[in-house]
Amino acid sequence: MSEIDDLLAKLDLEAKVRLVSGSGVFRFAGDASIGLDEMPVSDGPSGVRGELWDERDPSVSLPSGTALAATWDRELLAEIGALIAAEARRKNVYAVLGPTINLHRSPLGGRHFECFSEDPVLTGEIAAAYVSAVQAHGVSACPKHYVANDSETERFTTDVIADDRTLRELYLYPFERSVRAGAWMIMDAYNSVNGTTMTENALLDEPLKGEWNFDGVVVSDWTAVRSTDGAAKGTDIAMPGPWELWGAPLVEAVRKGEVPEAAIDEKVRRILRFAIRVGALNGTPLQPPVFTDESAQALVRAAAAKAMVLAANDGTLPLDKPARVALLGAAAAEPRFMGGGSATVIPGHTTSPLDGLSAVLPVEYTPGVHLNDHMIPVPLDLVTDPETGTPGLSLRYLDGDKILDTEHRTAGGLMLFGNPNAMAAKSFELRGKLRVDSAGEWRIGFAGVGALRLEIDGETVLTDTVMPDGTDPVEMLLNPPQRFVTRELAEGDELEVLVELAPVPAAGLPALGLTFAVGRPRRAADAEFAAAVELARTCEVAVVVVGTTEQIESEGFDRKDLRLPGRQDELVAAVAAVNPRTIVVVNSGAPVEMPWRDDVAAVLLSWFPGQEFGSALADVLTGAAEPGGRLPTTWPKVMADVPVLDTAPDATDHSLRYDEGIHIGYRAWLKSGVAPAYPFGHGLGYTNWELSDLSVSGRTATVTVRNTGARRGRQVVQAYLSREDSAVDRPVRWLSAFAAVEADAGETVTATVELPRRSFEHWTAKGWAVEPGAFTLHVGTSVVDLPLTADIS
Ligand code: BGC
Repeated sequence: MSEIDDLLAKLDLEAKVRLVSGSGVFRFAGDASIGLDEMPVSDGPSGVRGELWDERDPSVSLPSGTALAATWDRELLAEIGALIAAEARRKNVYAVLGPTINLHRSPLGGRHFECFSEDPVLTGEIAAAYVSAVQAHGVSACPKHYVANDSETERFTTDVIADDRTLRELYLYPFERSVRAGAWMIMDAYNSVNGTTMTENALLDEPLKGEWNFDGVVVSDWTAVRSTDGAAKGTDIAMPGPWELWGAPLVEAVRKGEVPEAAIDEKVRRILRFAIRVGALNGTPLQPPVFTDESAQALVRAAAAKAMVLAANDGTLPLDKPARVALLGAAAAEPRFMGGGSATVIPGHTTSPLDGLSAVLPVEYTPGVHLNDHMIPVPLDLVTDPETGTPGLSLRYLDGDKILDTEHRTAGGLMLFGNPNAMAAKSFELRGKLRVDSAGEWRIGFAGVGALRLEIDGETVLTDTVMPDGTDPVEMLLNPPQRFVTRELAEGDELEVLVELAPVPAAGLPALGLTFAVGRPRRAADAEFAAAVELARTCEVAVVVVGTTEQIESEGFDRKDLRLPGRQDELVAAVAAVNPRTIVVVNSGAPVEMPWRDDVAAVLLSWFPGQEFGSALADVLTGAAEPGGRLPTTWPKVMADVPVLDTAPDATDHSLRYDEGIHIGYRAWLKSGVAPAYPFGHGLGYTNWELSDLSVSGRTATVTVRNTGARRGRQVVQAYLSREDSAVDRPVRWLSAFAAVEADAGETVTATVELPRRSFEHWTAKGWAVEPGAFTLHVGTSVVDLPLTADIS
């Protein structure tokens, strides 16, 4: 008998069902009788939040999915993986719930920022590098969400209709690649595919557990398990735990013969195997490398610079010691370091573009636009905890008049769940002394769901019961409505503020959030706009940071259009009209329309670059680092051009038909013949390159790459295949492989690209097949810039 079967034999049915039902919001159950520890798990793909959502235990915030993929850099991913593992160990976490490897089917997809690419090969390569790197240090990765969870609209009920070939060649491929890279855990998705919800779908058996030999654990997406008897199917752990549809009802279902006990045993075997791998079963977890704050920051900063895609540049970048730089845009001071939703972490350190650029350039800043009317969680430099007299707030957990606990907190927005006091409390109070740093009309208020009350200087000034509005609960939790009062204040004025929340159980949220929010006085919109344009006119260079907001780009919903919110387009156009050296930095996780892109000196796509945004941006703008990114997704000119757009399922049967089949992303653009703003694979650096001498031997191609510019650089050599006169429906061309090279100015190096057999295969009713005859290999630096070709049989 194997060790696993031995242990299994010691567990009765109740004990086994406990293991498959989870034991906390972010915790797998353990069993002391067999030496199995409880196993905390954590989101997520771009940082490790830990079991709790608590600013007192901050996390390193890494570049988001699109940014990581834009590096096309497996070695970098290995370092990032080590950092993720180190963060996980520090937070006592056995598995990180990432990477997110669904595809960019439509640019409207709300979690685009979190996913890597529109291309399955690039997604698969980055995913494999991520998974192997994290797991090499004894922490499990968890590629998600299996499968076809490529958009957010009605994400719990959408039924994706896709044929086998489309699934195999596109959406399943990154999972296959991750499993072959050794993934220990896979998360199955909320949606259905071809009529069956993914937590019970036959795709969990074939190809996942059968053909691919996946011997790890399939964990449900949070709340995705929808039936007790579905436990007979492929999901191994239902989360969050203890998941009430499993637990006791599952024990009963097994007793009644509705779910075979063998199915539970098989899940437990997988869980035990997983526990051995992560060191939770009579073992000790591996010790990943130790990162100091400095070494973590240095890595994130380098990664963010490597991810930034220089889409256009007339030579203005890198900057040549300008005397005065106008920095504009609301996102320059309040950028998006990361995307919204479960990928959120709370960083202990951030640098905004304003911080980063001010450190190295003579910057003068004004926002130019008010991006939205959202207030921000009260900043620490404006608020003092009345209990401790130090920056921060006092949080009280109350049961009627009884104070269960008091905590000193150092964030204006809190998530209240996970600790026993939060479970027991009937209400919460957040108190702080607000000292304002500028004169004018301040907004003071709260955000949360439940019965809320705002008190200023002992007087109740606002009460409201805020209930969910029917949107996704995660969205409601992370982005609750705000309410406020206004006060005309002088600089230095002090107010005693108290925000109270009494949860309303009927709201049915999985957790609670409470924010003490403020809105600073601001210039009237037109005056602010005019001031920004005037500043730009008088400076040598203008840097405008534009971006999306959490209200339009986040988990839980899809975007409705690709426009930048507010007056940002108008601002860029007006600035470009007065300053020919206008550089636009786009802080979004996914494509946005840029109607001004041909009228500005440079366009730099920064994605959601993680906590070191500002320093990385300073490195790139000054030339201390090269912008290393290449587009992992096609960037359209206008939404109307996008060949695959719709993410709304049918109102009657909830179907979302993937009728475009294998033609998504650049494949669809090539098919439609419409030129995007910037093609897949595109990205400029600070030097120039010449590719020559393509030669092929077997499935290995070599290319001579010469750096013809004036400084050292890195180039990503991309290899695509095409097939003329094919009997099979195919993309015009498709990515087969890529390799990165680095070379000094004037240096010539060789790039070697291994073309995997799979990229010559297509899926048929009988399985994978290769069409006999010759394929054409195209090598170059984007999907449309392919100077070299060769025949390959
Ligand atoms: C998301 C997952 C996430 C989970 C736990 C879900 O809503 O879809 O990606 O890992 O929540 O936070």
